Amino acid sequence: MKQPCLTWLPFLCAEAPADLKTPQQIARFELDQASGEPVGLCVRPEMGDSFWIEKKEGQFLITGGETGVLYGAYRLLMALHAGYPVRLGTQPSAPCYDLRMINCWDNAEGTVERGYSGRSLFFENGWFDYDASRIRQLARMMASVGLNVICINNVNVHDPAHKLIEEEWLPELAKLAAIFRPYGVKLMLSIDYAHPMRHGIPTADPLDERVQQWWMQQTEKVYHAVPDLAGFLVKADSEHRPGPFTYGRDHADGANMLARALKPHGGKLIWRCFVYNCMQDWRDTTTDRPMAAYIHYAHLDGRFDDNVILQIKNGPFDFQVREPVSPLFYAMPNTNLALEIQLAQEYTGHQIDIYAMPPMWKEIFRDLPPKQVMAIAAVGNLGRDDNYTGHPFAAVNLFSYGLTAWDPGCDPEECIRLWVKLTYQLDEQQQEMLVALLMNSRSTYEKYTAPLGLNWMVTTHEHYGPSPSGYEYAPWGTYHKANRDAVGIDRTKNGTGYTEQYPEPFRSLYASLDTCPDKLKLFFHRLRYDYVMADGRTLVQRIYDDHFEGYEETQAMAQTLSQLDLPSPDREMAQERMQRQLKNAHEWCDIINTFFYRLSGVKDANGRTIYE
Ligand code: GCU
Repeated sequence: MKQPCLTWLPFLCAEAPADLKTPQQIARFELDQASGEPVGLCVRPEMGDSFWIEKKEGQFLITGGETGVLYGAYRLLMALHAGYPVRLGTQPSAPCYDLRMINCWDNAEGTVERGYSGRSLFFENGWFDYDASRIRQLARMMASVGLNVICINNVNVHDPAHKLIEEEWLPELAKLAAIFRPYGVKLMLSIDYAHPMRHGIPTADPLDERVQQWWMQQTEKVYHAVPDLAGFLVKADSEHRPGPFTYGRDHADGANMLARALKPHGGKLIWRCFVYNCMQDWRDTTTDRPMAAYIHYAHLDGRFDDNVILQIKNGPFDFQVREPVSPLFYAMPNTNLALEIQLAQEYTGHQIDIYAMPPMWKEIFRDLPPKQVMAIAAVGNLGRDDNYTGHPFAAVNLFSYGLTAWDPGCDPEECIRLWVKLTYQLDEQQQEMLVALLMNSRSTYEKYTAPLGLNWMVTTHEHYGPSPSGYEYAPWGTYHKANRDAVGIDRTKNGTGYTEQYPEPFRSLYASLDTCPDKLKLFFHRLRYDYVMADGRTLVQRIYDDHFEGYEETQAMAQTLSQLDLPSPDREMAQERMQRQLKNAHEWCDIINTFFYRLSGVKDANGRTIYE
């Protein structure tokens, strides 16, 4: 029989038994199997997810809530295995966010939207189809890093996934929930806002009583089957999904109507703020897509029920390599907010190119207003591939996401190092080579694809590989407007006014060319090619240099990778993907440089090859 893949948990027993029913039982099992020394557990239900670890008479004692002891057990085992000192004391380790979610974009027919790790772990052919032991292993992975909610279906609810909340599907849903439950992981479901219309109700108007009644009754049935469901996730009035706008209602009306159906059951309503005009005329210069979420939501602050959480993507566009933090996070002090990030490497290399995200998240958390966000979600990078994440190194993002959701102040390099130590047995030199390779991977990718905040030069729809003008005349609101003299959009008050959506100090920081960081200059400003950047180079020279450097760094990365004694099959998989990454980086470098050279006519100051 094939060994199950244990990703970063190879020090645990190959498979956890199916008959363990509570987090405490799982904790006991894992500790007995893996710790090598006796460990005591003390459950104090009021402690919830939090825990502390002490040493009493030479023996570890974990004290925590029902789920807290499980999280404590994994932290202890990971520290022991990595050879790290165990953090001892009675100061509880508590998660920063109560909801630490993964949003899977799985379709019932078995595909995964923006999935790069094979087909769905949960569905095939319009019905549930999963290997229970692999789901259990996923739950174990999640619990090991403190993640506690998984939304199993795509926010774009394609037929027949809407049936997840219907009678026919509920018994199977309950079985799936039961696999996750002992690991402290709750299910969440994406719902179709217009679902009542499939049942003879002629409208989905949130103020219509029939609509309200239908949701009340249906939600009751769902909770009868899965009493601890975390709640519903909704994408409404976004990219052709139905929503309250059709009925002249706003998003507080829509979200509150659903939240009231969930309220008696303790469920949360997660409402996404990814709302913008995806049918924009490229000639229209008065609409600036990054401004859309703020325009739609900021004025609704204070109108949402207390079990509604607005889920906002980290940046105002859509998971680009570098974006400023969305201004909406600063604009809704009286609303529950969740941060949404994307583990799936949609714009960041499709889990072919290496792209470790923790350094990027560090920048997001640096700028996020601390008390404003109360939940966190990440679009999943999971699939049916043996290792769950396609590229074996993509697991570092899932792992680090859990640690970051627990403690956003954690050090990115330490997360990556811990993942390397737990996943592979490399000598210290090789371990540090891999840590450095991962730590630098985002910067390298940024250089060969989209430096200086210049996004969207990517192939349309697929989002892998360069296509400098692919989105230029498209309806998506994603333009760079490069001509022979200049590139970018002026988003200051002299231009679209986007910087005005920020409070100080961000407003002035971004609006002024003197203070706007070079890495974001083309996000906020339109610049001439001869504009002199903070480091003294001209803009066009900087574009050339970054692209050449990005490609060179990828070649160096390939060299490093070939020296690492990774186990099979990770070694072969990483090598094979690196060949594709090299090709990708080469294409990006030459195509983007050629594009700007042909427009500007400016030669590379260092005489490197750019094509006529
Ligand atoms: C992006 C992505 C879509 C996805 C959407 C979303 O636009 O390309 O596939 O549906 O984000 O977040 O809803």
